[in-house]
Amino acid sequence: MEERIKEIVQEATGAIREATTLEEVEHCRITYLGRKGQLTQIFKEMGKVDKEEKKVIGPAANKAKNTLEQLIEEKKQGVQEQALHQRLQAETIDVTEPGTKMELGKKHPINLMIEKISGFFSDMGYSIADGPHVESVYNAFDALNSPENHPSRDKTDTFYISKDTVLRPHTSSVQIRTLLEEKPPIKVISPGRCFRCDTPDATHSPMFHQIEGLLVDENVTMADLKGTLDGLAKELFGEGTRTKFRPHHFPFTEPSAEMDVSCFQCGGSGCRICKDSGWIEILGCGMVHPNVLKVGGIDSEKYTGFAFGMGVERIAMLKYEIEDIRLFYENDMRFIQQFK
Ligand code: PHE
Repeated sequence: MEERIKEIVQEATGAIREATTLEEVEHCRITYLGRKGQLTQIFKEMGKVDKEEKKVIGPAANKAKNTLEQLIEEKKQGVQEQALHQRLQAETIDVTEPGTKMELGKKHPINLMIEKISGFFSDMGYSIADGPHVESVYNAFDALNSPENHPSRDKTDTFYISKDTVLRPHTSSVQIRTLLEEKPPIKVISPGRCFRCDTPDATHSPMFHQIEGLLVDENVTMADLKGTLDGLAKELFGEGTRTKFRPHHFPFTEPSAEMDVSCFQCGGSGCRICKDSGWIEILGCGMVHPNVLKVGGIDSEKYTGFAFGMGVERIAMLKYEIEDIRLFYENDMRFIQQFK
């Protein structure tokens, strides 16, 4: 009988070692320690053996039982850890991997547009500034010379997180952040997300992208602004593109303007894209308001500057003839992969 106990332990140890799932471990337990298990059988048979033998067999059987119970418990834990490890491995996302399903060299049209525009400005020595999406009301409005009653401050236009905090409705808040952080000469652009309370339709989205630009130095004039943005228009829509600056109003620039480009489709004679006007509006701009420079701690007698802001979706839609802004966010690969 002692011999049989040894054999059972040996066999069971092998079987437990080979088990790889919880079911297999449980199967081992039932086979050796269960109600009809092999070791349980030994305990049952012990009633029949004489006293002397029992003294030897009893402790041996108990020891075997403890050993097997411990092995099973350890194996159970091992299998569980292994399963967890495998699951974590399977769920891991390699953040360094480029958009996995994107064809090589293809980019989301919004990223593509941001890269094109940023590339144009970085070639001219601009650096990239960044700002948070969740912004103070102060940076989004007050510091930018916006009067208390400006319509864009309304809860129907801007998402408020609290009385003093908003989801930034434009990238212009990066202007004041930059002015406070840097000394002239300042030359930055800032691409990023903006948010406005708009119901989605073909031309509106509550989340969209802008690229802000800011240049502050001595002797900066409106001619510098016009030259810079005219260069951008030619880069984006072709050498033959002409630009026109229409007076406009923004609280943070004075004078302010909107820039139109000659229609790249019809060249100015009038078509569906330019709504027969020959011109397409693409951005807002102006000379930085002295009040904004002052809040930014910059001597407005010594320095002047210009700023501009453009909607990335709008420009991408014009350039690629995309008719519905919602296509940008639907992640349909057939749409996204068309752009170069
Ligand atoms: N922030 C303005 C807008 O969202 C654009 C702008 C930026 C205008 C900088 C002038 C200067 O419409």
